[in-house]
Amino acid sequence: MPKSQITNSRAVASPRVVSISDFRPLARRRVPKAVFDYLDGGAEGEVTLRENCRAFEDVTFRPRHAVAVPQCDLRARVLGFDLSLPILLAPVGYSRMMHPGGEVVAAHAAGAAGTAYILSTISGHRMEDVRAASTGPVFYQLYLMGGREASEGAVDRARVAGFSALVVTIDTAVSGMRERDFRNGMKELVSGSLWSKIPYLPQVLSRPGWLAQFLLDGGMPPLPNVVIPGQGPMPLLDVAAALSRSTVTWEDLRWIQEHWRGPIVVKGVLTGDDARRSIDAGAVAVVVSNHGGRQLDGVSPSIRALPEVVAAVNGQIEVLMDGGVRRGTDVVKAVCLGARAVLCGRAYAYGLAAAGEAGVARALEILRTDLERTLKLLGCPSVSALDRSYVDVPSNWRLS
Ligand SMILES: Cc1cc2nc3c(=O)[nH]c(=O)nc-3n(C[C@H](O)[C@H](O)[C@H](O)COP(=O)(O)O)c2cc1C
Repeated sequence: MPKSQITNSRAVASPRVVSISDFRPLARRRVPKAVFDYLDGGAEGEVTLRENCRAFEDVTFRPRHAVAVPQCDLRARVLGFDLSLPILLAPVGYSRMMHPGGEVVAAHAAGAAGTAYILSTISGHRMEDVRAASTGPVFYQLYLMGGREASEGAVDRARVAGFSALVVTIDTAVSGMRERDFRNGMKELVSGSLWSKIPYLPQVLSRPGWLAQFLLDGGMPPLPNVVIPGQGPMPLLDVAAALSRSTVTWEDLRWIQEHWRGPIVVKGVLTGDDARRSIDAGAVAVVVSNHGGRQLDGVSPSIRALPEVVAAVNGQIEVLMDGGVRRGTDVVKAVCLGARAVLCGRAYAYGLAAAGEAGVARALEILRTDLERTLKLLGCPSVSALDRSYVDVPSNWRLS
């Protein structure tokens, strides 16, 4: 194990890492700027990225004091699975670039924590290896990249490998304009010629520990789960163009449903209308999400969109949410407003980039202890007993 990795593994285990925000500087120190900004950044002016976190501050608690809560039940039932806490790991593309173990170690950490992992289409590891790494449920996030046959191939493989649900992301008609990625030469670094990489190499060379691990891992492979018939795994060079040809329509959801014949979750819902369309298309759950502020900048922060979706769904299917979750208090607020559970993206990805599996495990442990403390301070014995009576929201939030 390179020295920087050992140091970071110790650092995340130390009592100085007390909140998710403590991982951010550790991640920044370990990976090149282009990789850190890919993980940390959002679209255009990053307004939605910032608001996703800030809007949680608008929700305030109404605790019940002088109530003894010696034991807290943190479990949540999601898609028929009993999770040990109401937090799933969101799909995060290119995780293998953050750490060679990438999706495999994140899935392992999720299983060890008793929760579910959602594997991105843009994974550097084979889906079979990711499924095998976890003792918990694993879902497959689908982008329709590489055409219908490639997607059907991925769906078939996911079924055989034992993935329990498909998470279809609907907010990525084209990739959002992530300005930091352009400035850092992300495209050139990932898929360009050596010549085009040259201006961007100093940031990579300044992280020799990361670089050594990246090279020993063989660099980022072509996407092993997007196999184009007759051509093989999709080269990274083609990913951006493939994404812009992969808009998922409600019609597509129907054929995906026919082909998959299992539970489908629609990710990227921000309005009551899209929630109702998801129900009509046969989804068993929706994820209220703006892709962590990485797609259309200026849309509502997820926590603010949540009550409208919960009202529209009216208990017919499960509602999950993601975007800006960094603390146990955020998780509790989302559950009080009707989410069955939350997904976290950056909260564990900072840990992955900082220290691999140890970082993901520590991030989950921090969220778990946060969650338990919050319930005790609220005077609530279980996640399943949380409801709207424990929070206040601003009067101008759209609640139905
Ligand atoms: C680096 C990164 C890569 C992502 N890749 C994907 C992806 O491949 N597919 C997808 O549906 N969402 C992707 N997302 C969005 C996450 O699944 C999730 O919606 C978002 O991270 C939630 O916001 P948070 O990071 O504030 O928790 C990605 C997010 C990040 C930060």
